[in-house]
Amino acid sequence: MARVYNFSAGPSMLPLPVLQRAQQDLVDYQGCGQSVMEMSHRSSQFMAIAQNTQDALRRVLNVPSNYRIGFFQGGATAQFAAVPLNLMNGGCADYLLTGQFSTKAAKEAAKFGTVHVAADTKDIGYTRIPDVDTLKWTPGAEYIHICENNTIYGTRFPRVPQVPGVPLVADLSSCILSRPTDVSRYGVIYFGVQKNVAPAGMAVVIVREDLLGRAAPNTPVLLDWKTVIDADSMYNTPPCWCIYMMGLVLEWIEQDVGGLAAMEQRNNEKARLLYDFIDRSDFYTNMVYPPHRSIMNVTFTSPSKELDAKFCAQAAQAGLVNLKGHRSVGGMRASIYNAMPLEGVQALVTFMEQFQRENQ
Ligand SMILES: Cc1ncc(COP(=O)(O)O)c(C=O)c1O
Repeated sequence: MARVYNFSAGPSMLPLPVLQRAQQDLVDYQGCGQSVMEMSHRSSQFMAIAQNTQDALRRVLNVPSNYRIGFFQGGATAQFAAVPLNLMNGGCADYLLTGQFSTKAAKEAAKFGTVHVAADTKDIGYTRIPDVDTLKWTPGAEYIHICENNTIYGTRFPRVPQVPGVPLVADLSSCILSRPTDVSRYGVIYFGVQKNVAPAGMAVVIVREDLLGRAAPNTPVLLDWKTVIDADSMYNTPPCWCIYMMGLVLEWIEQDVGGLAAMEQRNNEKARLLYDFIDRSDFYTNMVYPPHRSIMNVTFTSPSKELDAKFCAQAAQAGLVNLKGHRSVGGMRASIYNAMPLEGVQALVTFMEQFQRENQ
């Protein structure tokens, strides 16, 4: 079996034991004579799978009992609209623009209410996170929105804003489950699952109970958090396969890795290896202010666009795939999510050393 190291920003690698387990169960799930892909979502087998996934997320992420969890279709992008529809209440919200996804979220929210841009780091190429202690917040804002890890630029908030009485709403699509998270700091956490959690096709919302039930009357029913969550995420047919796979990934984190503290240690080790190598090199460059570097998405360039293209092509031939940077920024990006083993990053560094020797 020849598997590559896949550095894609999402959909991305899944842990091999998870894929193998899914393969084992594919045709006949635990002796019930059918695949999870064929089951009625109302069957006792599938209801147990969905409950198990939700319970596992609560356990692994240590979600407090006053938070509810929902599974939604439409990815994180649908939640860009769901957030204002559920929370804005005809009022306004503060948005921090630290990259492309938070900017898209703000643009979507502006369709439903007033968006105040509390910070925008576009003019510095999104290479830093604004200092949340010096920002001016709008009095009476319904919430503050951030994207905690910026997938395209490879930055991460070193600290999240905390304003008394104003819920923090955070897009954690590209960093969820990468480390322990104090959920009580957030009013709402949402994420698309296709990076650290499951195959593409679902977003998860974790919402503090008191923030439910405020949706605007014209909210489409599938974006109404309370309606979907009150129906145990089965208001309509849910993304059954995603929910099942997410359960397997959580089991892998819990049992094979040893929980989120151990996951963070692994992720820090991988990121350190790569950043230390880039920082020592006089050939590769990472533009991000070091304290704001992401441990999930590592961006870098070689001395020229031509060498960047050559790098990506040769890396792919060596089994290191999807290293091309986002089309809006160019260069390279290594997404080293939870499922990327340390060996994958070691192989990348070895390749980078060799490429440098041959092209400097
Ligand atoms: C941080 C972040 N937010 C939102 C999105 C959009 O997610 P989706 O494709 O699930 O709508 C992405 C996709 O890569 C992302 O990285």
